[in-house]
Amino acid sequence: MTGAFQWYLSLLCLPCSEFLSGNKMIAVENQALVSKNAIPKEASDGFTVPESNAFGQSFRDYEASVRLSIVENTYPLNHINQTYDFVKRTREEYAKLNKAEMSIWEAIELLDSFVDESDPDLDEPQIQHLLQSAEAIRKDYPNEDWLHLTALIHDLGKVLFHSKFGSLPQWAVTGDTHPVGCAFDESIVYHKYFKENPDYNNPAYNTKLGIYSEGCGLENVLMSWGHDDYMYMVAKANGTTLPPAALFAIRYHSFYPLHKEGAYQYLMNEEDRENLKWVQTFNKYDLYSKSNVRIDVEKVKPYYESLIKKVCTSAKFCALVILNTFFSLLKLDFFFFLFAVLPRKDSDGNP
Ligand SMILES: [Fe+2]
Ligand SMILES: [Fe+2]
Repeated sequence: MTGAFQWYLSLLCLPCSEFLSGNKMIAVENQALVSKNAIPKEASDGFTVPESNAFGQSFRDYEASVRLSIVENTYPLNHINQTYDFVKRTREEYAKLNKAEMSIWEAIELLDSFVDESDPDLDEPQIQHLLQSAEAIRKDYPNEDWLHLTALIHDLGKVLFHSKFGSLPQWAVTGDTHPVGCAFDESIVYHKYFKENPDYNNPAYNTKLGIYSEGCGLENVLMSWGHDDYMYMVAKANGTTLPPAALFAIRYHSFYPLHKEGAYQYLMNEEDRENLKWVQTFNKYDLYSKSNVRIDVEKVKPYYESLIKKVCTSAKFCALVILNTFFSLLKLDFFFFLFAVLPRKDSDGNP
């Protein structure tokens, strides 16, 4: 199994010492990045939902999609293999963040050749999806550059597919996410395939609450492994100062059973409920911006590069290109480097 990569997302000029000085202050400081008049938009607030996706079909129509044969390959494997044990093991492994280093733009370009096989609405390379969603949200929220950046980076966890990050299969990178350790809600797409998941018949994991308690907060819930949680982990471990709403959107944007179907609400706490409004807003731009009209990368690149430069303390965010073959040779230097530049964190990647 592989490790991960590191990004120093010390955003909007907040020094690291400030970030590290306590959760309460972080929440207050970071929330200040959100403009006072920035409110999550409801559907009635002027957002126009397009009638059709990149193929002229309804969005998320898993029965009629022209990509059905591809999508149908991914979900059975996802639902059968994403057990509680698999997720726990994989998350712990990737929390080591010991694989590769790259700038945000380098990661974006790494996704240039990657097409999400779980997506019924788009078969464009991921770089297009990132820019389409960022440009769409920028149009409606011109003053909220934290939202532009959130959209730009929200799917960068898909680098997990790349050999630098262990070449994970699509079923462990893409697709909707759901909690593990409790019953699989029937609203999850392709629910029927869970019957072959060993957890389906495990009495410890197949009740409504499973190993969790009512209102325990999503922070304490293990989600099926994929690009959402990985990107959240990378941002968090590298001292991001993105506001909580942004981190929530990154971490749960594929949690359709919750933000679209309303399932698993009993696991949420008050803070989750507040952040849910933003992930629902964000989702409109993530989902409905999908189109076969390509963004001119070179045209918008200067804006996003300046945004990245504005909100990050260094042009290179990750400095850990540690290939397995020579990892052991560099081990001492590597850990010295980690200690020198990173906030201390627990096994969950939390500072
Ligand atoms: Fe995603
Ligand atoms: Fe996305």
